[in-house]
Amino acid sequence: MPPKLELIAAACENMGIGINGGLPWRLKTEMAFFTRMTTDTKDKDKKNIVLMGRRTWDCIPEKYKPLENRINMVLTSQSLNYGDKAIICKSIPHAIEVIAEMQNQVERVWVIGGSRVYKDVMGSPYFGRLYLTRIKKEFKCDTFFPPIPSGFVLIKDPTVPQHIQEEKGIKFIYEVYEKK
Ligand SMILES: NC(=O)c1ccc[n+]([C@@H]2O[C@H](COP(=O)([O-])OP(=O)(O)OC[C@H]3O[C@@H](n4cnc5c(N)ncnc54)[C@H](OP(=O)(O)O)[C@@H]3O)[C@@H](O)[C@H]2O)c1
Repeated sequence: MPPKLELIAAACENMGIGINGGLPWRLKTEMAFFTRMTTDTKDKDKKNIVLMGRRTWDCIPEKYKPLENRINMVLTSQSLNYGDKAIICKSIPHAIEVIAEMQNQVERVWVIGGSRVYKDVMGSPYFGRLYLTRIKKEFKCDTFFPPIPSGFVLIKDPTVPQHIQEEKGIKFIYEVYEKK
């Protein structure tokens, strides 16, 4: 069985996640949390996958592509080719097939956005967990996190800081959800 899909996202009070193809905020600690969660593996011979929509891939600056020490996978309906930087998949079931073929090398599969991918995965049988950073401020956004389905419950993950974080006067907290 391939690993379940784990979502990781940061949303502000109005549930925004993006604006003009970028993030509405710049929070170094939150970015470091994203990097740690999506990169670290218990088994040093394995890597994690980061699975994302084509627009999220497009908004990663060239110098950071592919996201290092992770297997990058991009969902698109187009015939694109990112060479050895990223694996292209045409649907979530297709991504699951590709993941299943390489599962011996893979520890965790992180879904890193955007909206449609989060929504589709939360409503699918492949969903494992949602790691959601709640940013306690409103930002102007044009992309939003989809409604969290009823039946999702907050759980504790000891690898996640429990207390409220603060950077540049902006407060935020890491939440973890599972399906009941
Ligand atoms: N705050 C956060 O945690 C966070 C995380 C990620 C992204 N963001 C922000 O969100 C914005 C980008 O997200 P977005 O929602 O606009 O776009 P997105 O979901 O990253 O990309 C959408 C595209 O991905 C492809 N796609 C999505 N689901 C698919 C599926 N099931 N099968 C095949 N292809 C699929 C399609 O590509 P084609 O059009 O090529 O077919 C679709 O047009 C940016 O502003 C980014 O900074 C924020």
